[in-house]
Amino acid sequence: MASKAPQAYEVNANELTGTPEQEAYMRDIIDQFTIDTKYLEQVRDRFMLEMQKGLDKEGATIAMIPSFVEGRLTGKEEGNFLALDLGGTNLRVVLVTLEGQGKYKTVSSKSRVSEELKTGPMRNLCDYIAECVDTFLTEQGLENQEIELNLGYTFSFPVLQTKINRGVLSTWTKGFACTGAVGKDPVLLLQDALLRKHVPVKVSALVNDTVGTLLSNAYNKPNTLAGLILGTGANGAYIEKMNKINKWKGGKTTSDEMIINMEFGAFDNERQILPLTRFDNKLDRESINPHAQLYEKMISGMYLGEITRNVLTDMIDRELLLKRDENTSFAWSKEISRHWSFETAFMSNIEADNSADFSYTKEILDTNLSLHDITTTEAKFIKKICELVGKRAARLAACSIAAIVQHTGATQAGCDIGIDGSLYEFYPSFENRMYEALSELLPEVSDIRKTIRLGLAKDGSGVGAALTACVAARMEKVQATA
Ligand code: BGC
Repeated sequence: MASKAPQAYEVNANELTGTPEQEAYMRDIIDQFTIDTKYLEQVRDRFMLEMQKGLDKEGATIAMIPSFVEGRLTGKEEGNFLALDLGGTNLRVVLVTLEGQGKYKTVSSKSRVSEELKTGPMRNLCDYIAECVDTFLTEQGLENQEIELNLGYTFSFPVLQTKINRGVLSTWTKGFACTGAVGKDPVLLLQDALLRKHVPVKVSALVNDTVGTLLSNAYNKPNTLAGLILGTGANGAYIEKMNKINKWKGGKTTSDEMIINMEFGAFDNERQILPLTRFDNKLDRESINPHAQLYEKMISGMYLGEITRNVLTDMIDRELLLKRDENTSFAWSKEISRHWSFETAFMSNIEADNSADFSYTKEILDTNLSLHDITTTEAKFIKKICELVGKRAARLAACSIAAIVQHTGATQAGCDIGIDGSLYEFYPSFENRMYEALSELLPEVSDIRKTIRLGLAKDGSGVGAALTACVAARMEKVQATA
C-alpha cells in the first residue's frame, strides 16, 4: 500500500509578491532550504561512508547496531504474541495472532505517555507500562494464563543489543529523558515491573520499531530490504550480510544475514554535510538533546513544525510578517511565540490547501494560533515556508534510502522498503517528493516506483515485534539442536 497522504499544492516562487524586503527575505529562505541534486548526492555519499564506519567499529555516529534478528521470514510464522510499543507519541499494547501466509489479526489498546512520565524516574514509567499490560490482559480475558505469554518489546531508542532480548540504552531521543535508564537494560527494567505486579508475561524480544517495520513488511513482501520510520522520530533498518559486519564479535549465527538497526537519526552530528540553517541551529540549541540527532531534527515530525515556527518568528521580528499597529501585532504573535506551538500537523493541513485565496491556511492559523486576520500575501508566505521545510525533509530522508540501496547493491534487482510513521502516512506529497529525490539520486534506474518500491508498513511496532518474538523462538530452537 502506498502512503494515503493527500497531494501538496505548491506555491510558485513568482507568486510571492510583497514589499521588496519581504520578497528579498523569501528569496533567501528559498535558497537556504532548497537542496539540488548535486547536494543530495553529497549527502548520500557521506551517508554511505558513515554506514561503513558503523559496520567497521563501535561508537560510530551512525551506530549500525546488530539487532540479533537473524535470517529472513518464511511468511509461515504463526502463534499468539503480545507486543508493546514505546517510543512514539503513544504507548500501545497489542495482542497479535500470526496466522501464517503473511496474514495476522491484532487487538490493541493505546494510552498517552505524559510529559511527567517521559522525564521522571524510569521505575515510574515501567510501573505505568506494567499497569497498562495488566489492564489489557484483563480486558482480553488473558489475566490468568497458565503459560506466560511471550512479549516483543518495541523500544524505539538507541539500544546497543547484546542478545535478541537484552541490550543497554545508550541515550534517549524524541523528548524522553527518564532518569535511571541510560546504561541499563530496558528489558530487565520492564520485566522487574511486570514481576512486581505479577503479570504473567515474559519479555522475549527487544525490538527497534524500524526492525519491526522491516519484518512486518517482509511478512508478505519477501523482497523487503529495509524498514523506515518517518514519524515523531526517524530511523531505518536493513538486512546486512554477516561478513560485512566487520565489528561483529557475537560468534556463530544461525544465518548469514542479520537486520541492522542503523540509528541514522544521529547522522552528521559532526555537522560535516547537512545543510543546517540558523533555524535548525536554534531548534537544536533549544532542544532537550543539543548536538544530537541532527539528521532526525531535519526530517522527522517532532521537529518540522518548530523549524517552520523559527522562520515565521524571525520574519515577525523583522517586521516582515504580521506587521499591524504596535499593540495588535504584539497580541497576535503571543501564541506563535510559544515553543512547539506550530505543530507539524498544521503544516500538513496548510500544504494540502488548494483554495484560490488560501482560505484554509488562514482558517488553520486562526483556529490554532489565534492569528485572526492573516492577509492573502502572508498566508502565501507561510504556506511556502511549510513547503520548503516539508520538501527538504522528504528529500533528505530519501538520501538514506538511496544509500541503503546502493550499499547493498539492490539497484538492479529492486526491493521493497516498508515505511511507517505519521509523516510518511499523512504528510502531503511526502512520498512523491521522496520518489523525486530518489530518481535524481539513482538516474540509472528507469522506473523508480517499480524498482524501489516504497510502501506503508502499518503497525510495524506491533506485528513486527510479534514476528521478532517468533524469530527469537525459532533461533532458540536452532541453537538448541546445533
Ligand atoms: C530513535 C530510534 C527510532 C526512531 C523512530 C529515534 O529517535 O533513536 O531508535 O527507531 O526514533 O521511532
